[in-house]
Amino acid sequence: MTRHTLRTAALTLFTAVALAAAPHAQATKAGADKHLRVYKSPTCGCCAKWVQYMQANGFTATVTDQTDMAPIKTQNGVPARAQSCHTTLIGGYVIEGHVPVEDVRRLLKEKPAVAGLAAPGMPAGSPGMDVPNSPSYDVVSFDKSGKTAVFATHTPK
Ligand code: CU
Ligand code: CU
Repeated sequence: MTRHTLRTAALTLFTAVALAAAPHAQATKAGADKHLRVYKSPTCGCCAKWVQYMQANGFTATVTDQTDMAPIKTQNGVPARAQSCHTTLIGGYVIEGHVPVEDVRRLLKEKPAVAGLAAPGMPAGSPGMDVPNSPSYDVVSFDKSGKTAVFATHTPK
């Protein structure tokens, strides 16, 4: 982890604590929930496409390239069967892989008691994996114990 990443993490944590302590500050600090911290392999083209897709949908991103992706998944409790290519942190949640923006928005709005969301594997037709006429795929939530549940089902257009 780089010095910069650590500082960003510390700042994000500080913002989260400040928000929890002062709900009235939410109007001005709402932008904090629009910032993605993305960890990806330097050679992954589909990961970069997902980041571009999220940016086109109003999110900002700090992207950290790292060759060994296993530690970030372990550290954030992404269950083995839910793993994908890139791993993203936002608003205290983990977003694993090519999760559509509407699911991220719903997660941040409803704040369910889960650790995060995942699009396991790299489903064809998911954002950044644009393949026409792909079959439906599920986005799952996962909790700290590793339990998964279907969060949304998507039918690529
Ligand atoms: Cu991918
Ligand atoms: Cu990826």
